[in-house]
Amino acid sequence: MEGFAGGALAAEVSLAGGLGFIGGTTDLAPELELAASIISKDVSFAQHTEKTFPIGVGFLTFITDIEKVLPVLGKWKPKVVWLFAAKEVRDYQTWAERIREVTNGESQIWLQLGSVAVALEVLKTARPDVIVAQGSDAGGHGFDRGAGIISLTPEMRDNMNDSGFENVPIVAAGGIADGRGVAAALTLGAEGVVMGTRFLASEEIRIPDGNYRQAILQGKDGGQYTVRSNIFDKLRGPSIWPTGYNGRAVVSTSYREFLEGVSVEDLRKRTKEAEGGSKKDYGVQGRSAVWAGAGVGLVNKVQSAREIVIEVRESAVKILELVRSRI
Ligand SMILES: Cc1cc2nc3c(=O)[nH]c(=O)nc-3n(C[C@H](O)[C@H](O)[C@H](O)COP(=O)(O)O)c2cc1C
Repeated sequence: MEGFAGGALAAEVSLAGGLGFIGGTTDLAPELELAASIISKDVSFAQHTEKTFPIGVGFLTFITDIEKVLPVLGKWKPKVVWLFAAKEVRDYQTWAERIREVTNGESQIWLQLGSVAVALEVLKTARPDVIVAQGSDAGGHGFDRGAGIISLTPEMRDNMNDSGFENVPIVAAGGIADGRGVAAALTLGAEGVVMGTRFLASEEIRIPDGNYRQAILQGKDGGQYTVRSNIFDKLRGPSIWPTGYNGRAVVSTSYREFLEGVSVEDLRKRTKEAEGGSKKDYGVQGRSAVWAGAGVGLVNKVQSAREIVIEVRESAVKILELVRSRI
């Protein structure tokens, strides 16, 4: 979650037994140092003996200069390097090879994908350690064609098994905001889950301003309150995203006017005026994009990242036990 997930959020998630990620930035070192300063104070990590740093880092490969980030990755060896949004599928192979080179193969490579065919292709070329199956309910950027995790995860699992990749885990992403979602994803064949939108209501998230958080907390009926579109990327100028991607965000004044036929040019003018220079204009009545997933209706209170991880994990365990007892 570029710009949103910094060192503090990542550290707290890892300390709670999850794996925290720092969203892609070329200025990675300060965030890793911040995470290290938090983690090193915790007694449970005093005996951390792994060669990798217990934090993941994510990159949008189409806008990241690999040469700028490789030295930092070599120095820190994050537990996981997460790659998303390659302009060409073959770019993942280059990234994976270069990362393995500088981290001596210590950092795992996770690729976030939304297609079974692409997963099978990259498993042979980039050889990721984990596939993140991103379904269409996911908040923020994703694929303009795609399925929800309920069908994507098992189909990916079956095809990966049939192609000899049964040992590569799948982690499910998109619409999972509580223990019920985790329990469902695990039964679909995922070995773990990603939560993005739920952490937009964490204390540690770097949220652009108060209205953004309000827009998250007020969200109800998530599939109506948010929508996938590429208009959100065009509100401040031409979209920089490669073809094949769009983003899920809160249905806003900009989106409603777009549906009414207002031109992109006029939407840009109106957004610029509303934002008044650097100020953003977030919310249902606003114009700037509030990235959020279809699970936003399940997110209704601000908690520490630790509380979120612990609560969701405990709830998933209870639900799985309950379901088993019913069978
Ligand atoms: C505000 C926001 C920013 C995001 N930024 C990124 C990003 O920079 N890179 C990335 O790979 N995914 C990004 N994502 C997508 C997440 O990786 C993940 O797929 C998604 O949050 C999972 O769905 P959920 O939001 O329903 O939990 C972002 C998601 C959100 C909500």
